[in-house]
Amino acid sequence: MVFDMGDPFGPCPVEQDRVALTADFDAFTILTGRFLDGSSRGVAAYRARQRGGPAVPRNPAAGRYLGRTRTPTPVRSVEDMITAEGLTKRFGDKTAVQDISFTVQPGTVTGFLGPNGAGKSTTMRMIVGLDKPTSGRTTVNGKEYRRLRAPLTEVGVLLDAKAVHTGRTARNHLRAMAATHGIPASRVDEVIDLAGIGSVSRKRAGKFSLGMGQRLGIASALLGDPHTLILDEPVNGLDPEGVRWVRQFVRFAASEGRTVLLSSHLMSEMAQTADHVIVMGRGQVLADAPLDELVRAWTTTTVRVRSPRVADLASAVAGADVEIVSTSPESLEIVGLPASRIGDIAADRGIPLHELTPTNGSLEDAYLALTGESVEYRSAEYPAKELA
Ligand SMILES: Nc1ncnc2c1ncn2[C@@H]1O[C@H](COP(=O)(O)OP(=O)(O)OP(=O)(O)O)[C@@H](O)[C@H]1O
Ligand SMILES: [Mg+2]
Repeated sequence: MVFDMGDPFGPCPVEQDRVALTADFDAFTILTGRFLDGSSRGVAAYRARQRGGPAVPRNPAAGRYLGRTRTPTPVRSVEDMITAEGLTKRFGDKTAVQDISFTVQPGTVTGFLGPNGAGKSTTMRMIVGLDKPTSGRTTVNGKEYRRLRAPLTEVGVLLDAKAVHTGRTARNHLRAMAATHGIPASRVDEVIDLAGIGSVSRKRAGKFSLGMGQRLGIASALLGDPHTLILDEPVNGLDPEGVRWVRQFVRFAASEGRTVLLSSHLMSEMAQTADHVIVMGRGQVLADAPLDELVRAWTTTTVRVRSPRVADLASAVAGADVEIVSTSPESLEIVGLPASRIGDIAADRGIPLHELTPTNGSLEDAYLALTGESVEYRSAEYPAKELA
């Protein structure tokens, strides 16, 4: 079988280090290979396994989250990304998405953030061909979604968890999906297990609670063991166990080299899950940056200091741009000077320090600062005393 990685950035790792990869080569070829005859990786994989192809090694950690392991994608390829170029979507006179461009890299979890109505779902729908762009282009794995031969095995999508045939049981819904791609029933059972819906899989999906529907949507997204995951608010409605499971499985998927784009309004959850974030507001990209860079750029760093001579320290660091708040007789919070500078000033004056702790703001602080102008649906503010 001729194997073509088609990597534009470097030599094919299989050619480069064939010996080192020998043990995993079969699994690697079967699960990630693109074949020169143009057939898609996943379908070939399933057919090969159905024919009794080489067993895929199991790894307990992988088994917990994705149901199987595969050799991590060893090199980045433009074909493994999601791209958007000059993407615009208008609904009548409403511009939902306006000339946005970005790439979503493999091997990372990219968080897709933005206020209600910012255009996140519309963008995701365009990526997977459910909405046609008014102008611009979007690709997955180097191709427009509609040109993918076996989309389920390339892109796992969770958009509207309620988009299931309500009269079918969860198992039959998944089996019907699987049948379109030659995916075996054993994989259906596997994703049912992974998503934790075993006990209700023979119930009609129309009777599912919000969280169970969401789990079924996640099971559908995982069905084809895809390289790319596009998940619109996957934790919406999930219980804490489910929220943690989604976090762990997307982190694990990224660690295997998969491409993950997920939206959520839960900033504390996103802060633990994403490496990179794209923030939208009123149809435009407001920020596209590593998560920690975004937080650093959009929040102020407060330095907590404890010293038996806080008054001396306060007068030593005082300045036009320095804000000092006394938090106890022995501690201060200082904004406007880095911790290193405060430490140096204290050392110069022989002031003992018992604590010097810089604290960044949170992702929520950064997000609110960044999107403040872009919120279309603003809630009324409660007077503070009513909350007390
Ligand atoms: N089919 C449609 N017809 C008309 N307007 C639409 C349609 N779909 C989306 N819109 C509008 O496009 C804008 C972007 O909506 P979208 O659902 O993409 O936002 P979102 O960022 O996903 O918001 P949320 O956080 O609330 O899910 C909104 O103003 C919405 O009303
Ligand atoms: Mg949405």
